[in-house]
Amino acid sequence: MNEAADFLSRAQAILRGNDTGGFTKPSLKQYPHQWNWDSAIIALGLSYFDLPRAYTEIRSLLRGQWDDGMLPHVIYDPVPSDYFPGPAFWKTDGRPITPGVRTSGITQPPLLATVLRLIHNRQPSLDFLREVYPAVLRWHRWMHTCRDADGSGLFCIIHPWESGTDDSPRWLRVMDNITPQNVPGFHRGDTIHVTQAERPHDADYLRFIHLIDVFRRNQYVPQRLLAHSPFLVQDVLFNAILYRADRDLKELAGILNEPAGEIDGWLEQMQVNFDQRFWDERDGLYYDFDICSGSPIRVNTGMTFMPLYAGIPDPQRAARLIEHHWQVPSEYAPDTLTRYMLPSTSKSEPLWDARRYWRGPVWILLNWMLADGLQQYGRDDLAEALEHDSLELMARSGFREYYDPRDGSACGATEFSWSAALAIVMSANKTPRQD
Ligand code: GLC
Repeated sequence: MNEAADFLSRAQAILRGNDTGGFTKPSLKQYPHQWNWDSAIIALGLSYFDLPRAYTEIRSLLRGQWDDGMLPHVIYDPVPSDYFPGPAFWKTDGRPITPGVRTSGITQPPLLATVLRLIHNRQPSLDFLREVYPAVLRWHRWMHTCRDADGSGLFCIIHPWESGTDDSPRWLRVMDNITPQNVPGFHRGDTIHVTQAERPHDADYLRFIHLIDVFRRNQYVPQRLLAHSPFLVQDVLFNAILYRADRDLKELAGILNEPAGEIDGWLEQMQVNFDQRFWDERDGLYYDFDICSGSPIRVNTGMTFMPLYAGIPDPQRAARLIEHHWQVPSEYAPDTLTRYMLPSTSKSEPLWDARRYWRGPVWILLNWMLADGLQQYGRDDLAEALEHDSLELMARSGFREYYDPRDGSACGATEFSWSAALAIVMSANKTPRQD
C-alpha cells in the first residue's frame, strides 16, 4: 500500500473504531458520547467512503432535537461512562422528543446545514435532504429567535461550551466576573485520560459547572436563560458559522423548492449587524461581544479569521486581517517559536499556551474552515499551506485532538474522529507529505 492509501485507511479505521453503530464517538475514552458539531464533520468524512453510514450519523444527531427546535451539544450513549457531566447532572429528562434519548441542555456551532450541502453537491439525494431539512430549519429558527438577546439577529451563547472552543482565553474576563455559588459537588472526568496541563484550570471548570446549575434551576426555558445566565456573549465563531450555514440552508431550500423568505430575513439582519457588532476598526480584528458588560472582548484569537469562512468581510477588511495578522510572525505566522499554522490563539496574547486546549494549539477543524475561507477570498496559496500543515501534523503525529504549533507534537484525546474525518476530506485531492 502506498503512503497516501495507508494514511487514508488509517483515518477510516479511526472512524470505524469509534463507531457505535448509530453514532461515532469523538474519542473512545475522553468523549464517549455524541457531540453535535463533531458528528456533522464525521458525517462529511464518512460520506467519502460510506454514504449510508453518513446518513445514519446525521439521523442519530437529529434524534436529540428538543421540542422547541434546539439541537443539543451532547446526546448521551445509554452505556454508562466516566464522562462528566452526564445526563443526570444536566437534569434535562423529558425535554427531547425522541423517547429514550438523553441530552445536554445547550447547543454547539451549527455546521450541519453546510455539511448537508457539501454532501449533496458530491452525492445528490433529494430523498435524504427532504427527510432532514425540516429539522435543520427548525434548529436555525430556534437559533434566530430563542437566543437573540438584543434584536440584532446575532446568536448569544450562554456557556463557553456552546462556542465549541471551551477553554478559549476569550472567555476569561467574562468568567472572572462570575461568582460560583452553592455549586453541587462533582468530580471532573476530563482529566482522567488527558493530563491536567492540557485541560482547563479548576477555577474555570468550576464556573462551567456553576453555569449548568443556573440553567437547570431555570428549567431551560429560553427567556429565563437569557434573563439569568451570568454568561451572555455574542461569539464571532458561532455567528460566522451560523451565517454560512444560513447561506447553505437557503441553497438547500432552493434545491427542494421550499420557501426561503424566512432564511433571507435572517441573512439580511446578520449582514447589517455582523460587522457593526464585531469589527474593530482600530485593531483590524473581529472581537466577541460581552452582553453583560456591554463591551467587546479584546482578545486576539484565531476566531477573528472565521468571518472569512462566512464570506462576510469586504475585500479590504479581509486583506487587513490576512496581511496585518495572519501573516505576522509575532501573532500567527511561523517564526522561531512556532512552525505550524494556525495557532488557535495569537502568540501576542499573555495567556498564550502552546499545549493547553484552546489557548494556542492547532485544531484541524479550524484549519479546514479557514482554508475554505481563504479560498473564498482568492488566497489559494495560504489555503494550500494550511491544508499542507494539517495533513503533515496528522501524518506525523496521528489523528489527535490538537497539536503543539511549535513542534507538531500531539496533545489531548487520542484517535480523534474529526481529525480523521477531515484527513479524508482534505486529502481527497491531495497526497500527504512528510519531510
Ligand atoms: C471538546 C471541544 C469541543 C468538542 C468536544 C468533543 O470539548 O472543545 O469543541 O465538540 O471536545 O470533541
